[in-house]
Amino acid sequence: MKLQKLAKSFLGMSLAATMLAGCTGNGGGTGTTPAATNEAPANTANADAGSAAGTAEAATDPAPANGAKVGVSMPTKDLQRWNQDGANMESQLKAAGYEVELQYAANDVQQQLSQIENMISNGCDVLVIAAIEGSSLGEALDMAKGAGIPVIAYDRLIMNSDAVSYYATFDNYKVGTVQGNYVKDTLDLDNAAGPFNIEFTAGDPGDNNAGYFFNGAYDVLKGYIEDGKLVVVSGQKTFDEVATPTWATETAQSRAENILSSFYADGTNIDVWLCSNDSTALGVENALAANYNGTYPIITGQDCDIQNTKNMIAGKQSMSVFKDTRTLASQVVKMVGQIINDEQVDVNDTTTYDNGVKVVPSFLCEPVFADANNYTKILIESGYYTEDQLK
Ligand code: BGC
Repeated sequence: MKLQKLAKSFLGMSLAATMLAGCTGNGGGTGTTPAATNEAPANTANADAGSAAGTAEAATDPAPANGAKVGVSMPTKDLQRWNQDGANMESQLKAAGYEVELQYAANDVQQQLSQIENMISNGCDVLVIAAIEGSSLGEALDMAKGAGIPVIAYDRLIMNSDAVSYYATFDNYKVGTVQGNYVKDTLDLDNAAGPFNIEFTAGDPGDNNAGYFFNGAYDVLKGYIEDGKLVVVSGQKTFDEVATPTWATETAQSRAENILSSFYADGTNIDVWLCSNDSTALGVENALAANYNGTYPIITGQDCDIQNTKNMIAGKQSMSVFKDTRTLASQVVKMVGQIINDEQVDVNDTTTYDNGVKVVPSFLCEPVFADANNYTKILIESGYYTEDQLK
């Protein structure tokens, strides 16, 4: 019986002997977490797309699909990256011989719950879920557990549930440290006199990743804030104060507009706007364009969305963090195959991601620094975008 076979596979989990190229071999995170456009690039749904700097290697030799069906639940079509993730997962799973049920939930938790329940009723053997809200999937997860269906948390950890079997993501804390170190190095904080003015914009409080990104960056910069070299002019520096519900560009923009009119309208310069990702960076960039005439600040981001990459090329965003969705998808397809075939499941972190009930065995892929100087190599030469898409 297929489900019994799948349930047995949990006994076989162990650390992977080999790592994927482009994925990290160490834990990376420190467990310090608190609590656009939506166009899918033409050729991101290609499992065999070339690699750049080792970022896009496909997992090798996926195990046979054995007629299994995989449910893939994505949060929204509104942000570019989830369209890419969904398209990559679907095409790579189909290429490996699986039947696939892919659903997007319009950032609506109830919709995601009922889509997952339908996947279970429709006979999916494994579920891959990128949660809208990490803690809100209890009922559907209980149902999956009752039916013996393994669940892989995709990119975002599913919280407070023992029904989640594995987690595959990029090293979230490291994403934040890449952003923080970029600010530190660009301003030469160890040597420059300063002081420099900084503001922060973080992500969705319902997304477990958001705290890791913020803490990764803040941990790099907090010493400079404490000794006065970096000044948070608005005074808003806790995660809760700087968070952006649902990562919405409009919400980040209106908060940035308020900050600019309240604290910078007198001609005060802003030197850095540390944004956790591209959708929020876009909001800050829009606010600056309409409400700020001072020296243009350093702006960080994450995802290398098309509009943000264009903004990097145009000098309106300083950097982003590239998380090659092809790499994550191929790792997850590999995990699915290992589960289906009762093989050991590759993980490379068994300490960082405590979801409140258990430490979830995880595979962390490596995020890559991106800016106007290296985007050609990592985004175009790797086949992630065409040159035309960035015009
Ligand atoms: C992802 C980021 C993304 C954000 C908004 C996070 O969970 O890790 O890559 O920018 O969600 O969609």
